[in-house]
Amino acid sequence: MRLLNWKGPSLAVFLGSLSALRNVHAIGQATCVSFNSSPSVFSVVSGGRSAPLFISENEWSGVQRAAADFASDIEKVSGISPTVSNVTSSVKSSATPIIIGTLGQSSLIEAVVNHTKLDVSSVSGIWEAFMIKEVANPLPGVPKAMVIIGADKRGTIYALYDLSEQFGVSPWYWWADVPTTPNSEISISSSGCSHGTPTVKYRGFFFNDEQPALQNWAMEKFTNGTGAALTGSPFNHFFYTKVFELILRLKGNYLWPAQWSSAFGVDDTQNQPLADWYGIVMGTSHEEPMMRSIPVEWGLFGVGPWNYSTNSQNIYDFWVNGTIRAKPYENIFTVGMRGDGDLPLSETTNIAVLEKVISDQRQILMDVFNETDVTNIPQMWALYKEVLGYYDDGMRVPDDITLLWSDDNWGNMYDYVGDPRDYKWITSTQMAKTFDQLSQAIDREATRIWIVNVGDLKPYELNTEFFLTYAWNSSLWSFDNLDTFVSKWAQREFDLPLDTANEVASIMTNLTRWNNRRKPELLNGTTFSLTDYREAENVVSDWEALLNASTKIYCSLPSEFQSAFFETVQHPILASSTLGKMWIAQGMNNLRISQARLSANDLADQVEQLFERDYEIETEYHQLLGGKWDHMMDQTHVQYFYWQQPMADTMPPISRMRTQKQALPGAMRIAPEGTAAAWPGDNPNQCAAGDSCPPTDNHSRLFCSFELALYRYCEGSVSPSNPEVRVEATVDWSQVTGVQMAQINFNATVTGQPSESTPAYFVANHTVAPSGFKGFVEGDGGVSIEAAHASRNTSVAGITWTELPDYGKTHSGITPWPRTGNDFNNFTAGSGPSIEYDFLNFNTINDGGNVSATLLVSPSLNSMGPDRPIKIAVQIDDQTPQTVAFIPPSAPGTLPPQWDGNDGFVANAIVSVVTNWSAPPGAHTFKIWMVEPAVVVQKIVIDTGGVRPSYLGPPESISL
Ligand SMILES: *[C@@H]1O[C@H](CO)[C@@H](O)[C@H](O)[C@H]1NC(C)=O
Ligand SMILES: *[C@@H]1O[C@H](CO)[C@@H](O)[C@H](O)[C@H]1NC(C)=O
Ligand SMILES: *[C@@H]1O[C@H](CO)[C@@H](O)[C@H](O)[C@H]1NC(C)=O
Ligand SMILES: *[C@@H]1O[C@H](CO)[C@@H](O)[C@H](O)[C@H]1NC(C)=O
Repeated sequence: MRLLNWKGPSLAVFLGSLSALRNVHAIGQATCVSFNSSPSVFSVVSGGRSAPLFISENEWSGVQRAAADFASDIEKVSGISPTVSNVTSSVKSSATPIIIGTLGQSSLIEAVVNHTKLDVSSVSGIWEAFMIKEVANPLPGVPKAMVIIGADKRGTIYALYDLSEQFGVSPWYWWADVPTTPNSEISISSSGCSHGTPTVKYRGFFFNDEQPALQNWAMEKFTNGTGAALTGSPFNHFFYTKVFELILRLKGNYLWPAQWSSAFGVDDTQNQPLADWYGIVMGTSHEEPMMRSIPVEWGLFGVGPWNYSTNSQNIYDFWVNGTIRAKPYENIFTVGMRGDGDLPLSETTNIAVLEKVISDQRQILMDVFNETDVTNIPQMWALYKEVLGYYDDGMRVPDDITLLWSDDNWGNMYDYVGDPRDYKWITSTQMAKTFDQLSQAIDREATRIWIVNVGDLKPYELNTEFFLTYAWNSSLWSFDNLDTFVSKWAQREFDLPLDTANEVASIMTNLTRWNNRRKPELLNGTTFSLTDYREAENVVSDWEALLNASTKIYCSLPSEFQSAFFETVQHPILASSTLGKMWIAQGMNNLRISQARLSANDLADQVEQLFERDYEIETEYHQLLGGKWDHMMDQTHVQYFYWQQPMADTMPPISRMRTQKQALPGAMRIAPEGTAAAWPGDNPNQCAAGDSCPPTDNHSRLFCSFELALYRYCEGSVSPSNPEVRVEATVDWSQVTGVQMAQINFNATVTGQPSESTPAYFVANHTVAPSGFKGFVEGDGGVSIEAAHASRNTSVAGITWTELPDYGKTHSGITPWPRTGNDFNNFTAGSGPSIEYDFLNFNTINDGGNVSATLLVSPSLNSMGPDRPIKIAVQIDDQTPQTVAFIPPSAPGTLPPQWDGNDGFVANAIVSVVTNWSAPPGAHTFKIWMVEPAVVVQKIVIDTGGVRPSYLGPPESISL
């Protein structure tokens, strides 16, 4: 909380309680810090003096380094720089020190434990655990100290960074320019903080497809214009040390380096030793065995083809060298092999060759490490593409090798495909989806290695932190408190009061929801319906409202917080809303051109302006803070032609109407909602059967049931400067019984021309629900229901259909929970947990007594294997339930064809599960049964004959 923000009756009143009001902002960890001083707490800084930091000369040098960061963090917060000294057990100290050290490494900690018999069983031998607590008489001559003990090197480092974050130094202070809120008093409670072993043993990220943005930026900031001698790569140790520090502050421990024209071990010989010095475990991607960059290093040093069937000795020697080079450091060795350029091994390569590859690689490890037990050396085998196929075909490797299952590149575990389109521009992953999929990994105890592709890192700060925070301690997070992750993040990064932080959380939820319902790279002018449900118009106004909400907070922030907010909140919203609005304006321009409407020209102007605006926003980002992030938004993103990024941003095609000459049908045309047609005159959309049908045939539908029958007379005018007028009509339902039709004549008076008259016909159907009916009521030819809005919900075996807030395209999702409640077992249709929706219909498809029901389900892979495809059962009334396995089977290592493509499951971010039912007009119940776990239902659309195409489905129906 900042003094500047306070609006109170008297400053003095607030000053009196200044310290007490300040909150500690930290995410996913217990807090033990406060910003006041009292005898009951340990003072880190008080009255202009800081406690000295004691460390041991024989401490890990990586901990020495982190302790220097810790000291400078204290100075950032308080303005007081603590002394750091190497100390032995015979120190005398008048001040109360902070004693820092690693169990089993630091003789200082050993002395404290010897002297005090301190109980260290909570950390001893526990991977990466730490304890922080006040200890009386820790050493002879020292009356008390705050003692920080790590179980191992990283345990101590995490303890220090854990405190730094609580003091007010964001892990992103450099990477997202988060200011440190000053505090002149800093204290730690006597009982301190502690943490056991993390949920996931190895937690980290990798850069991928880092060209153009990250690479161009790093070239400018970390080199003198030329990259590494052999590869041209800019990713030297100046760059990597910034990354290592960030990973440790986020309590990660693992990294795969950039590999695009880069070779970590070659580009800068300090890269590998510095990673180890900081405490980072290095690995390499699925296609880079034995700690060497492939194909870059093979291209530089390899002899002969990259083919183990024909060139095994040269490849073996190459791997020996990579292993020798990495031997002094902490690594996880990738084993296995892929073809050159990340392609499958040659067709003739079979499982036997791959098994030989892995057994040779393990021999190399034993030889180089002079190790008889190879299981002591961490190894990883990535099950990816064709290798996953080998696994499915029965290939196995020794148990000590960690199997790395990958997602499909779209957040669905466990496979990968680059199609239908790459996306590297802006944040578009919903936290609820990430949580849903990662919690499945936890349920299955897949917790040895987690690694996430962060692209260029910069636009994905929040997503990256969530991934590592969840991996650090998954027990703290559930669907119910995910929103608090973002509000805590907003409080920490922008020093916001809780209510504003909650607003930021809901802004970020909408940003990622809207970018995820279709990735910006896959948008075009007709993604959202231009004619029905006002879908495109609503998307535009939603974006505008979101941008206004974000801008309001941005402008109210003190200037020193604005860069951080711009980078992580305001820019993604500005950029996404501009692109989203541009595509809709382009679609509307194209539609209006086909209708010969002059307003097409205004829309063409809008497209041009928004296309230019897109570049201005990019430039604004690049010019922040004197150009600190220059090039970081270089990623092209406007108008894709296939899956790969476009080589330049190009404005999508627009057209213009000739304004000097009147259109053939006359001065005025009518374009009703619900149709792409216009009257009078020709138009390809006037009638499905051809152009000889009567005018205004098609469009009467939109206004059928609830909207319009009798109209109020109105008049208006159109002109080239005011080319269109929207006429809205309402119904006085007291005047309508049953089905009635109204004719509206649009009469135009045109100077110097004969007058025109165009009729439009509207049908109103005054329907009445039976008294006492509760549930959703058909309107406009269908019933649309958000899955969370159920009439009844029945648990079985402790499993209940449960809402996943903020999940999916429109409102939320529901899933059987707890996921493993039935011991991973399934149910037969009609026996499991169920959820019901009462609805009332007045129509059926072609009056035939039938309806169709579409469940809009989240894409999810058959992650329980081909024998257990995910399934769901649905039922109307007491008809026989229908069971649907909605993810089609596919060959091992491949995805079903429906997964892919611009209209496929992942592009649409939805799978439509359609069933047909008898449902004569009247009240009915729609029921969903659990069959398999891990199914997420978002929405239900029952078509009674009038549902029209749209991207999000019809808006939710009225419910009584
Ligand atoms: C403590 O000793 C280590 C090892 O000799 C040395 O690298 C480090 O600079 C020393 N730290 C201080 C604060 O003197
Ligand atoms: C701690 O105690 C053990 C066992 O008495 C002893 O071997 C060791 O030297 C002591 N270490 C220190 C630093 O005093
Ligand atoms: C760039 O040049 C400066 C001045 O000569 C030098 O200090 C710095 O190390 C160079 N940076 C790199 C990455 O070579
Ligand atoms: C391995 O390293 C040695 C010594 O640096 C070098 O002479 C040899 O050419 C390297 N071999 C391969 C296959 O990289």
